[in-house]
Amino acid sequence: MKSIRRALPYGRQSIDAHDIKAVVRALKGPFLTQGPAVKAFEGAKYCVAVANGTAALHIVVAAVGLKKGHSGVTSPITFLASANALVYSGIEPLFADIDPQTVNISPKALSLAIRKDTKVIIPVHFAGRPARMKEIAAIAAKNKCFVIEDAAHAIGSRYPDGGRVGNCAYSAMTIFSFHPVKTITTGEGGAVMTNDVKFYDCLRRLRSHGVMRDPALNRKRGLGPWHYEMQELGFNYRMTDIQAALGLSQLNKIDRFIARRSKIVAKYNAAFKDIPWIRPVSVNDKFCAYHLYVVRVDFNRLGISRSAFMKRLLDKGVGTQVHYIPIYRQPFYRKNFGISPAGFLEANRYYDECVSLPLFPAMTDRDITKVISAVTGLA
Ligand SMILES: Cc1ncc(COP(=O)(O)O)c(C=O)c1O
Repeated sequence: MKSIRRALPYGRQSIDAHDIKAVVRALKGPFLTQGPAVKAFEGAKYCVAVANGTAALHIVVAAVGLKKGHSGVTSPITFLASANALVYSGIEPLFADIDPQTVNISPKALSLAIRKDTKVIIPVHFAGRPARMKEIAAIAAKNKCFVIEDAAHAIGSRYPDGGRVGNCAYSAMTIFSFHPVKTITTGEGGAVMTNDVKFYDCLRRLRSHGVMRDPALNRKRGLGPWHYEMQELGFNYRMTDIQAALGLSQLNKIDRFIARRSKIVAKYNAAFKDIPWIRPVSVNDKFCAYHLYVVRVDFNRLGISRSAFMKRLLDKGVGTQVHYIPIYRQPFYRKNFGISPAGFLEANRYYDECVSLPLFPAMTDRDITKVISAVTGLA
């Protein structure tokens, strides 16, 4: 237990005195929720801030208006929320195998996974690197599917064309998460970006019980300024002003956070490049706002199991994690959707080899050296 407390985690928030001051100011203000900080945090046209990234996924799937009998495709190597969002709306989740180089959904496998009843595709920008959106958008257009980007890992990343993830150039909507391990945090928090005003209005209603306050859109008119209507079922997925105040303060530091993450990744890559049993998933890429640093380890060649690998690093004060167990292996998905793991050669291979090493901006140079020598010392 002692070593767990001292160990470097795989990810952690960076909170400074400015963040604390911003939150205290919000606490002393007149609005703890539904106030000006949320509006300021949303900033951009057609951004809807919500309680967390999972809530964002839930309402984007609800907003595209799918029905029972429809299916959606996502990557098996992602956090559960990417697929759970489909299940919440009664949509059958399907998975497409990954590209082993990027660990993102493979466009070729995606084409094969799509069925006649598939209406939505949820690519996940794993570890911060955008999926091949141009090809995915073309596949979606051919099959008349909506694209929803799960950019929980990719706040601040750019596509190969230089556009920022979140500009929805290739999708109907893009979601972000501001969980503490992400590029910036609001404690819990999420947001949806879209360029479509219809989706924007719908998302705002779904975030707050389905309530409509615009008199022009209500069925009954002229009843009085108090009148509101609920025409569809929504949720309470609102972000608080306390969260938004923290998010605004964190946004001021996003470039610094990303620069530090990139520097750590470059140091790791340089240190591991000649080690035959280790293969970093993160390549040096000026467009990537690295969320995770994942390595693929040839445990047979190294001569120890993954559990022993993780235990030995933990004993040296280095915490690690596995991102992720393929979703189709989860008992819930196996039981309810009968998906066979056999069809996912690359995801299974990846899962057998992956380990995430610590990556967060507050890591010191000493921390980085500690991780590198702990890993290289295993041979
Ligand atoms: C890829 C991905 N999608 C969605 C989510 C859900 O975000 P949240 O934890 O904010 O609900 C996460 C969170 O870890 C994630 O990693």
